[in-house]
Amino acid sequence: MIPITKPAFGPEEEKTVLEIIKSGQITRGKWTLKFKESFRDYIDTGFCHTVCSGTAALYISLKALGINSKEDKVVVPALSFMATIDAVILAGGTPIVCDIGEDYCMDVNSLEEAIEKYNPKVVIPVHLFGQPADMDPINELCKEKNIYVLEDAAQAHGAEYKGFKAGKLGDISAFSFYASKNVAMGEGGAILTESPSLDDKISNWIEFGDHPALNLRITEFQAGIGYWQLQKLDENNDKRRKIAELYNKEFKDLPGLIIPKEFENRKHVYHIYALRHPNRDEIVEKLIQKGIGARVYYEYTLHQLRDAPHVDCSFAEDITKEIFAIPMYPSLTKREIDFIIKSVKEVVQNI
Ligand SMILES: Cc1ncc(COP(=O)(O)O)c(C=O)c1O
Repeated sequence: MIPITKPAFGPEEEKTVLEIIKSGQITRGKWTLKFKESFRDYIDTGFCHTVCSGTAALYISLKALGINSKEDKVVVPALSFMATIDAVILAGGTPIVCDIGEDYCMDVNSLEEAIEKYNPKVVIPVHLFGQPADMDPINELCKEKNIYVLEDAAQAHGAEYKGFKAGKLGDISAFSFYASKNVAMGEGGAILTESPSLDDKISNWIEFGDHPALNLRITEFQAGIGYWQLQKLDENNDKRRKIAELYNKEFKDLPGLIIPKEFENRKHVYHIYALRHPNRDEIVEKLIQKGIGARVYYEYTLHQLRDAPHVDCSFAEDITKEIFAIPMYPSLTKREIDFIIKSVKEVVQNI
């Protein structure tokens, strides 16, 4: 079976893990610091905190932004991994769900409707599948209404919007370094901000001192692996983009199939290569039979999953009936890519 994703580890990660074991310094050491500083510099922000998951990163960000009670509303897009909405619920706030656009990210008109109706404190655009949301109109709208913007950049390491990295486009950003991510540590996350006062608030939540805090630290092993993953990120994203280009070229004229679109002024890093087809379930089943790890991302919208208040999200609801992903990772071989292309063509043409 060709898996849907595979981490891209090499000898550097291997050597570093062994080095850490031999050193005896397995947490709070040089790799944790090195990773944190490198990631901050890569995204080009002021402050970076590493935490144990993307979910923790979202949760702490929301607490730092003052989400405490049911009166604190937070707008999330209808299509995302459930951690985006769960973090809001866990922080004590009320999630409000808005629709997505053709880029599969938050739709600005729908967001405006949600803001008018619910008066939220925070908005969480998700850079879904590796393409940044259309951040300028989102930021403009939120600035005008005094609303914080928290980027969910869990799927968008190295993605860009108008030349700026995802993670530098709002007030705070949350990353995940889960096993499947473009920077993978097994588990891990990061919170970034340019604001010293928000940085202080984040620190209060995760560093023991004057305030009650949580231990959400990563170990030296995770940081050591993450450091080398980061050194290879641009090269690996280029590989993903080349595979996406090949897929797009071969799939663009297949009947009923909608290929992903990279929007102007945005750099898509194809964390997930998502296709759409009205006969999605049959296609996924047939691809799996052929040994291709196709998968549905995502089967339900967030308001359906958590029974959350929402504005009209009919586009996202339609998308969840059609969307699926095929294998995408930097170490896919030419033979595997050719086999995937041939199989998708065969299956779609015979549906
Ligand atoms: C969009 C999105 N947000 C949040 C998360 C949560 O990250 P984690 O699994 O590291 O908790 C993930 C992925 O796993 C994700 O894809």
